[in-house]
Amino acid sequence: MKILGIESTAHTIGVAVVEHEGKRISRDNTRVLANELAKYPSSQAGFIPRKLADHHASHYHELLKKALAAAKIKPQDLDAIAYAQGPGLGHSLRVGFVAANAASKMLGVPLVPVNHTVAHVEVGKWATGAIDPLTVYVSGGNTQILALEKGDEGFRYRVYGETLDIGIGNFLDNVGRHLKLEPPDAVGVVKTARAYAGKDNLEELPYTVKGVDLAFSGLLTAIERSSAGRDALAYAAEETSYAMLVEATERCLCHTNKRQVMLVGGVAQNPRLQEMFTLMCIERNAALHPVPREYAGDNGAMIAITGAKIMASGTKWTRVTPDQSIRIDSQEFNWSD
Ligand code: FE2
Repeated sequence: MKILGIESTAHTIGVAVVEHEGKRISRDNTRVLANELAKYPSSQAGFIPRKLADHHASHYHELLKKALAAAKIKPQDLDAIAYAQGPGLGHSLRVGFVAANAASKMLGVPLVPVNHTVAHVEVGKWATGAIDPLTVYVSGGNTQILALEKGDEGFRYRVYGETLDIGIGNFLDNVGRHLKLEPPDAVGVVKTARAYAGKDNLEELPYTVKGVDLAFSGLLTAIERSSAGRDALAYAAEETSYAMLVEATERCLCHTNKRQVMLVGGVAQNPRLQEMFTLMCIERNAALHPVPREYAGDNGAMIAITGAKIMASGTKWTRVTPDQSIRIDSQEFNWSD
């Protein structure tokens, strides 16, 4: 089975081809033949939904051509088209849906709607080999601590803890823009914080952990009002927000008794975050599985792999059109790990 995966929920348009055989998804029987993407560049203006959609529409065909060439297949060789149904920005989602729907109709193959959050978890399990982990999903728009549990008919992801306002990546992006770092986003914060680390002065910021939930907007307001130096604030933003995340995760780990912690999403690739999680996991006798860099940020392969898993497991879906606020805990699946 060859599946095309289209990702377009936020700043990235991705097109991938995955080849799969059998009922289970693993590195042995599920191969990524192509994984092409184009990312809308960050700027002081942030992301403007209409411009993101224009960007995705203008790059899609060139990415599709590249993906088919890299996979050495023709469109007629595809057995299904998977696309990211949501959550995401409405304008961007629609670009992916229109492209996927056209391909599905033209080729006469199924259109498989894929929950973007589920896809981050599934590509993590495929890439790291983690089995039934406690997953920490950290990206621009999302921050959730998740684990699979028995549902009414199948299995569903339960959200143990999550952000009550903005995602951790969005928080760091805003800090980068406010402090006018280079680049003006989370990457700028991470670079600045690394250069400052070891200068021992940790500026005090609000530390907002509510049981297993988190809030980041108070930290942002405190940074906007602070007269402390730019580098010190970037460092404090990173250290404080990561510490909050580790504390909430540790609480979920004790509650669920999971033995594996998996980090997924764009923020998961951060070395300092991984270092702090490693220390916590050693103390809790758990194994840490950070998703590899190439599958951390949004990409088409994660959509195709999850589409393959949905098809192979016989999981049914009803609505195929985009849903910008769909939650990970609103669906059940026919897999248990
Ligand atoms: Fe994402």
